[in-house]
Amino acid sequence: MNQKGASIYAYGTDAYKKSGSAKLKTEVVSLKTENAKVTVNIKKRKEMSRSPLYYKYDIAKYDLHPGYEFPDFLQPLIPRGTPEYVDSGQRYVERIVRALYYFKQCALIGPSGTGKTHITYLVAELTGLPLWEVNCGLQTSSYDLIGRFIGLGKENWVDGQVTSWLRYGGLLYLDEANMMKQDVATRLNPVLDTRGHLVLTEKDNEVVVRHPYAYLIISMNPFSAEFAGTKPLNAAFRRRMSVWINFDYESVGERISQKEVELLMKRAQIDEDTAYKIIRVGAEMRRQYKAGDLPYGPSIGDLIHWAILIKDGADPISAAEETIVALTSDSAEVQADVRRLVLSVFKGS
Ligand SMILES: Nc1ncnc2c1ncn2[C@@H]1O[C@H](COP(=O)(O)OP(=O)(O)O)[C@@H](O)[C@H]1O
Ligand SMILES: [Mg+2]
Repeated sequence: MNQKGASIYAYGTDAYKKSGSAKLKTEVVSLKTENAKVTVNIKKRKEMSRSPLYYKYDIAKYDLHPGYEFPDFLQPLIPRGTPEYVDSGQRYVERIVRALYYFKQCALIGPSGTGKTHITYLVAELTGLPLWEVNCGLQTSSYDLIGRFIGLGKENWVDGQVTSWLRYGGLLYLDEANMMKQDVATRLNPVLDTRGHLVLTEKDNEVVVRHPYAYLIISMNPFSAEFAGTKPLNAAFRRRMSVWINFDYESVGERISQKEVELLMKRAQIDEDTAYKIIRVGAEMRRQYKAGDLPYGPSIGDLIHWAILIKDGADPISAAEETIVALTSDSAEVQADVRRLVLSVFKGS
């Protein structure tokens, strides 16, 4: 009764009979009419909304929400247009999707700027999951995560990020989870059991059950500069994570990754010699950051900003002043160290 690929009205359904316009928001791939029951194959819709990067990664065998589409109001939370994630054969995307498929959750460990947030967005986009993002810095309270009453009256409850995620599913990203305050972590513990649930004690003990397609990624930075030493991850959190994936910069110290040089050339449209020098400066800064000698190590994103100014015609030294020198620290002393490094690589002095 309908052509393949055409947008259709669900003939024969009660909704159609009532309104006459029960238009399905989907494309029809196959349509079977059995006892007036219409089966619409929504597979095509999934394929059509897929990122062009989907087939770059070997993840087709891990369907994270088989036969299930997230409702329309959640669609805007699915990231779009995330750039590719470059690695040298570590297959990070595949390993994260695999961990989610088997265990529902995993932890990403690595210094700031190694792409933990980026890859989480990419994974959400590739697998079609709405993303709920929470930064776990010290300002984050359990009101933000769980929910609160706004004004008077019981109807004025607003769900927090974690509660929404439990109800509707998708991917929850707890960024810098080791920075979380103890009282907040305690509140989250039961939720991290994959069959766990949350009791809203503040809201007549409503029980919120974890949606079958509610996945979790936590990230941690073992080199957080704001604190002396590393803050260990809450033990209860640690026990509940089955897979740990370590991230590092592509280039550090003497190790220069050709892949990273190429990414820089591509993203900033600069020549190879300049790209190589920029990566060398970045790699040395990262080495010093990991050794505790600099307060920050530049990400490839930061180095791209520097390269874009050079591409626009700025000389490399003044472009560095406006980007990585200023970015690293406010301290004149630290800035002088970075400046010296830039000069030694670009001017050989
Ligand atoms: N392997 C990578 N491939 C592509 N871009 C990357 C990669 N690693 C980092 N980036 C870029 O570097 C910047 C910092 O990454 P981000 O995800 O914020 O790091 P983190 O969350 O680990 O601190 C972003 O602009 C990101 O796109
Ligand atoms: Mg991040």
